[in-house]
Amino acid sequence: MRIDVVSIFPDYLAPLELSLIGKARQDGLLELNVHDLRDFTTDRHRTVDDTPYGGGAGMVMKPEPWAQSLAAVAADRPAEAAKPVLIVPSPAGERFTQATAHELAEEDRLVFACGRYEGIDERVMEWAAGHFTVRPVSLGDYVLNGGEVAVLAMVEAIGRLLPGVVGNPESLVEESHSDGLLEYPVYTKPSNWRDREVPAVLLSGNHGKIAQWRRHEQYRRTAERRPDLLEAFDAAKLPRADRTAFADLGYDVVDGYLVRRADAGGDSG
Ligand code: ADE
Repeated sequence: MRIDVVSIFPDYLAPLELSLIGKARQDGLLELNVHDLRDFTTDRHRTVDDTPYGGGAGMVMKPEPWAQSLAAVAADRPAEAAKPVLIVPSPAGERFTQATAHELAEEDRLVFACGRYEGIDERVMEWAAGHFTVRPVSLGDYVLNGGEVAVLAMVEAIGRLLPGVVGNPESLVEESHSDGLLEYPVYTKPSNWRDREVPAVLLSGNHGKIAQWRRHEQYRRTAERRPDLLEAFDAAKLPRADRTAFADLGYDVVDGYLVRRADAGGDSG
């Protein structure tokens, strides 16, 4: 996969030289190029922003440096290649989830446009649709100062799904969100640490019991911390023991979906 990032703070992306993503780049599994938006300005001050039409606080990113930089990046590909995906991090975008990461990990080329200030002139998105598949994407319902931190998060989430990047691909299967649930808790040696015991089942050597305990812990955690995830959970094929586990958590299976019982206690749901 090739990734291009356009930013006015190229140094912000330096952490992508470290750890698994850095190694993936060294190993040739991922090509990542960072471009300075100011290199595509033409004035002495290398201006990238201006005041908003209609008034209001803050500044808006000027369209022309964006068009110049993105056109240069888009042109740098074989004639027969498909349009790259242009990801524009923004709190006004669609939500970035593990499913988005999987989808984007299938692409040959991704381009990230890091906005700052109040955002990028909207006409850039219209223009860019001629050269890219444009996707405004949000990390969550909060506001960052710019797209760079969001790009660090997204490149890590996408990059670790590329074949060969994570040493043991099984660890991708058993982690949070891979099956619409949060991950079960994990423990390592010593088995007694500061008077706290590791759950006995994990020392039992009974793999069936361990798998069931882990699944039920996933249910418990998800019900407690992210009950919203359970609304979409496909409960149609749950074995009886799992239905019982959900019943204990206050959920019934109705038409294949989990429904919180009206009389269930606690504050989740
Ligand atoms: N830029 C500013 N806030 C953001 C957010 N929540 N997600 C993605 N990009 C952003």
